[in-house]
Amino acid sequence: MLFSEAIERPGGEAAVLLHGGAWDIPPDQHEDHLAGLREALDCARGILEKDGCALDSVAAAVESMESSGIFDAGCGGVLNLEGEVELDCGIMCGRTLDYGAVVGVKRIENPVLLARFILEKSDGSARILTCEGAEKFAGSNGFSLVDKADLVSERERSRYSELRERMEGYHTSHPFLSSGKQPRGTVGCVARDRSGALAAATSTGGTPLRPAGRVGDSALPGSGYYASGSAACSATGWGEAIIASLLAGRSVDGVGVGGAPAEVLSDVLEQMQASIRNEDGQGATGGLILLDSEGAGAWAFSTPHMARAGWAEGGQSWAAV
Ligand code: GLY
Repeated sequence: MLFSEAIERPGGEAAVLLHGGAWDIPPDQHEDHLAGLREALDCARGILEKDGCALDSVAAAVESMESSGIFDAGCGGVLNLEGEVELDCGIMCGRTLDYGAVVGVKRIENPVLLARFILEKSDGSARILTCEGAEKFAGSNGFSLVDKADLVSERERSRYSELRERMEGYHTSHPFLSSGKQPRGTVGCVARDRSGALAAATSTGGTPLRPAGRVGDSALPGSGYYASGSAACSATGWGEAIIASLLAGRSVDGVGVGGAPAEVLSDVLEQMQASIRNEDGQGATGGLILLDSEGAGAWAFSTPHMARAGWAEGGQSWAAV
């Protein structure tokens, strides 16, 4: 089953779409997800309405979702096999193709702010920083480092104990972990500002019980996010499959060569599902949001749910799970 919708441009210049993960989100969590999406959308929209830039807008939305504890990102991140939070995040400017990303950070409350800082400050020689190196860089540039236990939530501690009892094999393509029943998430945002610039950001706590040091898609440009002059895209789902499918980059390219956003997103998700399978033979699933250079766009997902929200100048804010 694949769900998708084209988002028309109602007339104005600025637009934003965001997601809070694509998986089998339990009904009793829908209200929380909607509340978290609305709060993040207000942050992103407020910046665009004040003539702010797309990069600030996506960073603000992702920061809000990282801080909410609702989603698999920031202090809501799922735990790795060792019971620790390890966060990945990337952000990209469509106008300059500059990006910044961090991988496996355990002591940074809002990885998107560090990724954004790297994007702004990098001279191009280092754009993806990992683990202690990223934290050292953060500390020497005025970011406060929290105790790594501070990012472990009670909800995720309980999930971890339950999963460890239940699982025999601990790897991300295990049928149970890759089936979409567990948060596989990420949060992400794409925006177009009034000047026409596009930006994308994606942030995640990764997949439950992944081996320490595993790198997912969310920090990798072209996989978990991508932005160009043509479009900006953020992806969510099974990271190993998203990397192999170059999901965000192919979506942006597909729109760049004239594809209709909703069709392009549906096609790349269908191709991923048909070509990459877990040990049970289930095709890889995920979700995408994309805005094009006109501020029109689409969302699509091949999971039972995707938390998603959007707004475009001249239209109403909306949110759905
Ligand atoms: N899509 C998030 C991850 O696999 O890490």
